Amino acid sequence: MFQQGIIWPDNNGVHINAHGGGVIYHEDRYYWFGEHKIAGEAGNLAHVGVHVYSSKDLYHWEDEGIAFSVSEDPDNPVVKACIIERPKVIYHAENDEFIMWFHHELKGRGYGSTLTGLAVSNTITGPYCYVHSLRPNAGEWPLNVKPFHKRGVPETTKDSYCGGPGCLSGPIDTVNILGRDFKKGQMSRDMTLFVDDDGTAYHIHSSEENSTIHISRLSDDYKSFSSEYVRAFPGRYMEAPALFKHKGVYYFVASGCTGWSHNAARSAVADSIFGPWKELGNPCISTGKETTYDSQVTCILPVRNRENAFIFMADRWKPENAIDGRYVWLPVQFAEDGKVFLAWMDEWDLEYWSRGS
Ligand code: DGJ
Repeated sequence: MFQQGIIWPDNNGVHINAHGGGVIYHEDRYYWFGEHKIAGEAGNLAHVGVHVYSSKDLYHWEDEGIAFSVSEDPDNPVVKACIIERPKVIYHAENDEFIMWFHHELKGRGYGSTLTGLAVSNTITGPYCYVHSLRPNAGEWPLNVKPFHKRGVPETTKDSYCGGPGCLSGPIDTVNILGRDFKKGQMSRDMTLFVDDDGTAYHIHSSEENSTIHISRLSDDYKSFSSEYVRAFPGRYMEAPALFKHKGVYYFVASGCTGWSHNAARSAVADSIFGPWKELGNPCISTGKETTYDSQVTCILPVRNRENAFIFMADRWKPENAIDGRYVWLPVQFAEDGKVFLAWMDEWDLEYWSRGS
């Protein structure tokens, strides 16, 4: 039974500590990777690393320890008290390697570094070895670049921390953030990964001062960016991107951009991962829909051996005591017109899909 927002104990009776997480299925088990938080406001920084749990049934989770640890070395970019958020792991079958990408901010610089970090392991539970962090697609224009972006960048288009709508000096396609960051690489904050049916992997992240999502194809070994990418939802200020595929159609779910405060979710659909994407609106339909039932999406998980079964996984953040963040999981429902929706359920279980609901 999934019960929303309560303590979810692991096999040791300790609340699962895997926030901003992602789940992958490998050799008969699910593995849930997420941010290990500590108590208090300090817990919003990475003091420990990425925690991993495993489960056969999605209800009972075994603590598999810290998959990726922060460093004690002040010269290491992933030093303790940097920011590591939304870690996601994918498996490269040919190389038999597990590839973790995460949102990385250097220690003491708030959310201004806007990096994505890479760590790799030969075993799913780790330890993952840190490779490096980078700003994606340096020196590359997206496939759907506009002439405006190539026309140059006025001096006034400065680096800034942008927390949401209204923080740029004008509408997105009058402020050339893409051009500003062309040489040094594009900003990458909230992120997710998606592996398509043909094994091609994509890195999806909030970019351009959080105003626009970038969808990038990763290299064949999943360890670098291929240089092929698109801008999506320009000026829509989305965070927490999650992507899944159902019956050949790509679905996108994300949040708006309001820091740790919960806001209304967004959804969109496309026939190609590179778009065009069509927004479908807020997928939540019950009371509480304006705040995504007090949560923010982190991943949409396909359930094994069940048809049309996807779980919306979300965080109920507690920034004042980060370790106490809770989880909201709901079944994704599909309407006849192709829209996805999320109805509130205080509790539910996987038999939801057997009941033909
Ligand atoms: C919203 C993001 O989705 C979170 O992952 C985190 O970065 C917070 N913003 C920080 O305010």
